[in-house]
Amino acid sequence: MRENDYWEYLGDATLTTSSTTQMQYQIVTLLADGSFHSGEEMAEMFGVSRTAIWKQLKTIREQWGLEVFAVRGKGYRLAQSLELLDQEKIGQGLTPTAQKLLSRLKIEGCIDSTNSQLMDAGAAGMASGCACLAEQQSAGRGRRGRKWVSPFGSNIYLSLLWRYSLGIAHLSGLSLAVGLGVVRSLELLGVSGVGLKWPNDVLYQDQKLAGLLLEVAGEQGGPSRVVVGLGLNTSLSGRQGADIDQPWIDLAQVPGGRSISRNHLAAAVLSQLLETMEQFGRDGLAPLLQEWHRRDLYYGRAVTLYTGAQPIEGIHRGIDITGALLLEENGSITAYHGGEVSLRPSGSSGGAVIGLKRV
Ligand code: ATP
Ligand code: BTN
Repeated sequence: MRENDYWEYLGDATLTTSSTTQMQYQIVTLLADGSFHSGEEMAEMFGVSRTAIWKQLKTIREQWGLEVFAVRGKGYRLAQSLELLDQEKIGQGLTPTAQKLLSRLKIEGCIDSTNSQLMDAGAAGMASGCACLAEQQSAGRGRRGRKWVSPFGSNIYLSLLWRYSLGIAHLSGLSLAVGLGVVRSLELLGVSGVGLKWPNDVLYQDQKLAGLLLEVAGEQGGPSRVVVGLGLNTSLSGRQGADIDQPWIDLAQVPGGRSISRNHLAAAVLSQLLETMEQFGRDGLAPLLQEWHRRDLYYGRAVTLYTGAQPIEGIHRGIDITGALLLEENGSITAYHGGEVSLRPSGSSGGAVIGLKRV
């Protein structure tokens, strides 16, 4: 399949472009300003009955998870205004270097997963530097088949496809490099107090603000391709986050994070990801080690590693040039590689349910 045919193929396959979904998307775009819009105005606009509009709004409530208020004589409005993703604003907000590195920017409404979409696109020959953002993911993924909560119209769900001549074996440090890129971009926007938990979670006061999922395909000796997927919470209600089984937070609760434009944020993180992917191909993780250690929230602290077998207790002594975690146990240091390993501060309940509720 030729590259340019690929998104057309996806349009059919994902049903994101069906006329009903399009109408729902247009209704949400209209309501995004947070003001009242009458059923009559919408019915006229779309050339359908007011009952048809009411049905679409019901779906928007039930399937898209958006709170829509109806007031007699005034019409409908969203509980809060939304800043929907805008391809032009994001493209223009990229740094000049990132603009050169980006080959394509795709904005989707609701899809299963931006990572899945770019993994398929990569297998079909899509060029390096292709990015995909979505308003909502119906099957957003974390590591090991875990779910990433991805409601409509807020937060960032972003994936980037990158091709390397390097073999898969040389990419182990990449996951740490991209985490650092995300923290850098937040700091450049004036956000403070965020840091990293090995290998690449972005936390604020031990609560998860963002996560990264890297998926790799190709040959051990090269070439290889990587899809890096970022989920970054900007505004997540207690109800939307109720199923998340570890402490979490959104940018609105972090110092300096409340009033950042969503499109500006998307441009900033995408710029850093593009630049990091390129820099890593040239220099690897070595030049980033010191900076990573400065942002490492657990450096020198007592931690527990969950590997599937017995939990391992030790003191976190940073990372090595391959991105492995260095753990001091009884005076000697062992290197642990990513994959199936999870790090938690000692005294927390590990990967188990913590039951944090936010109000
Ligand atoms: P690690 O093993 O490196 O600590 P993790 O458990 O933090 O990883 P994953 O293994 O990738 O992360 O699994 C995703 C986890 O992220 C879910 O199990 C859930 O606890 C959490 N999660 C899901 N959606 C969100 C979200 N929107 N914001 C914060 N956390 C989320
Ligand atoms: C983690 O839990 O640490 C990784 C979460 C990664 C979530 C993002 S959202 C965009 C991209 N698409 C996915 O399905 N997952 C990643």
